[in-house]
Parts: sequence; C-alpha cells; structure tokens
Amino acid sequence: MESKHLLSWLRNAHAMELEAEQMLDAQVQRLERYPILQQRIEEHLEETKGQIKKLEHCMGLLGTGAEDSGAQSAVPGHTLIAAIEDDDVVKSSIAAYAFEHFEIASYKAIIKAADHAKEAEISQICRESLEEEVAMATWLNKHFDETTRVFLERSQDGTLNSTE
Ligand SMILES: [Fe+2]
Repeated sequence: MESKHLLSWLRNAHAMELEAEQMLDAQVQRLERYPILQQRIEEHLEETKGQIKKLEHCMGLLGTGAEDSGAQSAVPGHTLIAAIEDDDVVKSSIAAYAFEHFEIASYKAIIKAADHAKEAEISQICRESLEEEVAMATWLNKHFDETTRVFLERSQDGTLNSTE
C-alpha cells in the first residue's frame, strides 16, 4: 500500500516536534513566576521527547530514518516561535495553544494516512501522541483565563518583572 505521503508527513512531524522541544525548553526557563503552567509545560516537554522517539520508530517501520531527510517543519515560521519564547506569558500561551493545534492536525493526517496504508502500528503510536497533544491543548485552554488574569494584575501593580 502506498505510503509516500505517510513518510513525508512523518518527517514533517518529526521536524515539528524537534522545534517543539526547543520552544518548550525555552518557555520553561521563563515561567518561574507561573509554577502551575511551568510544571505542565515541563511535563509536555518530556512527552514531546517521547513523541520524537515514537516518530523515529514509525519511520523505521517504513524502512527509513529521520537522518538527512531534509524535512522542514511546516509550522508557520518565526512569528509563532518568537511569540512562544516571548517574555510575555500571555503572548506565549496564545502561540503555544496555536502550536498544539498545528500538532493535532498533523497527527490526525498521519493517522488517516497510516490507516490508508494499513500501517496499524504507526496509526496506534500516533494516536497516543495525538491524545497527548489534545490533552495539552485542553489544559492550556482551561488555564488561559487564569494566566491572563494573573499577568494583568501583576502588570497593574508593577510586579511583572520582579522576582518576588
Ligand atoms: Fe505538543
């Protein structure tokens, strides 16, 4: 069964997750004043590292690796990445939420392609990653108002950049 698109999308997802790993790592460093958000991002960073390994395993099942694939993440470039790494936690949360949805759509496409190519193991593995992305997006959505409220309060009383 044809798996050309499947492989191509797996490679894109691999590049996307490598990007995610970098961004989450940068984001975690900046969130010491938002410990609940920081902890969840840290957890998702670990999940992301696992997703990278899973994608490598999937590509291996198709008889190829990620090496020299030249795959580019299709995530809309530097604007989003810069926003996620921004010191402004609200901007960063908006961008992170958008990024999670990009990941969700990417895994959905891969799962469809894997089912189409009768690659049951790849489908199953990517369903697990999809669940993690959905859980992360749901969490960000649930905590967004609170994060914004805290940010605005701190901004108003001038404690935004204090370490206290
Ligand atoms: Fe994610």
